[in-house]
Amino acid sequence: MSNLLTELQTISTQLRIAPEQIKIIATDFHQAILDGLTGKPSPLKMLPSYLSKPSGKETGIFLALDFGGTNVRVLLTELLGQGNFNVKARAGNPLKDKNGHYNYISDQSSADQLFDFIATEIGSIIKADRNYPLGHTFSFPTHQTGLNSGTLIQWTKEIETKGVEGKDVTALLTAALQRQNLTNVLPQAILNDTVGTLLTAAYIDPSTDIGSICGTGHNTAYIEPSSPLTNRPMIINMESGNFDKLPLTIYDLELDKNSEKPGAQLLEKMVSGHYIGELVRIITYHLFDVGLFSASHGKDMIATPYLLNGAHISLLQEDNTTDLSLIARWLEESLHITNSSLQDREILKKIAALICTRSARLVAATYLGILQHIDPHLKNHHTIAIDGSLYEKMPGYAADIQQALDQALDAEERKVITTLTKDGSGIGAAIATAVAVNENP
Ligand code: BGC
Repeated sequence: MSNLLTELQTISTQLRIAPEQIKIIATDFHQAILDGLTGKPSPLKMLPSYLSKPSGKETGIFLALDFGGTNVRVLLTELLGQGNFNVKARAGNPLKDKNGHYNYISDQSSADQLFDFIATEIGSIIKADRNYPLGHTFSFPTHQTGLNSGTLIQWTKEIETKGVEGKDVTALLTAALQRQNLTNVLPQAILNDTVGTLLTAAYIDPSTDIGSICGTGHNTAYIEPSSPLTNRPMIINMESGNFDKLPLTIYDLELDKNSEKPGAQLLEKMVSGHYIGELVRIITYHLFDVGLFSASHGKDMIATPYLLNGAHISLLQEDNTTDLSLIARWLEESLHITNSSLQDREILKKIAALICTRSARLVAATYLGILQHIDPHLKNHHTIAIDGSLYEKMPGYAADIQQALDQALDAEERKVITTLTKDGSGIGAAIATAVAVNENP
């Protein structure tokens, strides 16, 4: 066998998640849930949301603020009940200017600068003559002591703004709204995007009991039948991206070592859109190193950290031309690699596919761990609501998740399905705000 084939086979074996391994990961994940719920050390933070399944009757007009990564969005949302809603206005902007004029997510920016920018976005879609109850989808690990207060535990997704970790995010937002004279905007609820996704899907389909994001970041929330806080059902934000009993490869270890927070968010670093391009880049660089990639002058380029993003990985998988000409053009135009061989392009495509399938199968294993916890004998039907670019757009990703679930469960019965739930951050924030307003009219 040629060196290249042997090397590729080694990489495939390292990245393969076999059915038996899925079972082991699911069982370990289940144990981490139990540990987290009972206050034992656990990689799962199991954060209370102070929300449970919506009744479907929530109505009203609410502002939804969505801050979960490099963009901020504001939506004016009307809930009409019976699963109906419409978005009446939208605004949004990147928090990091692509021409380098500003960057509110770097360690050069302060909490006040970041929240002033966010408040200005909110100001751009409201009128002065009425009050706006607001729900804030804040997609980072946040310790909540109630529906409207949450302290950022630590940034994820490589965000670094100073002065937010350890602070109450609702207080920071409220202060910025006051500085901008937007005192008619009234924050009522703060929630994670996984919680928003679950709420949005359950508003329409009550069989939904798991909400998940497979996008730039990764995380899952579920309805805990008996929350340790209330002994009643409550949605728990697991922060499952921090799960760590995982088959890490040398490539994962290298990515982690050079990341903002080594040791943290190990599952997220193996599965999410922010990192999968980097994993493909690290593996490709390794192939250059062992002399198995022929476009030799591309090596310097491929040495650039985070050169590849999730969209590039989609592109690699979408090219079905016989000579992979779309990949060739992209390599030339975007990465200035002009002399790639067909074999180089095939390797890139293969590595992208291996990384994506591994991601989907690891994520499915965590869903199986949750199901073991909430319905060990699978008596009921379950819908897992998922949002995010990987699940929505990555070729084969949704099918890989379903296949892994079907392999582990009784495929005939199909008691567990996954479904795309879009705009969960916007609609979910409105639902959470409706609940808050009802509780404290
Ligand atoms: C955050 C989670 C979030 C997920 C998806 C992760 O980095 O820690 O809170 O739900 O990204 O946005």
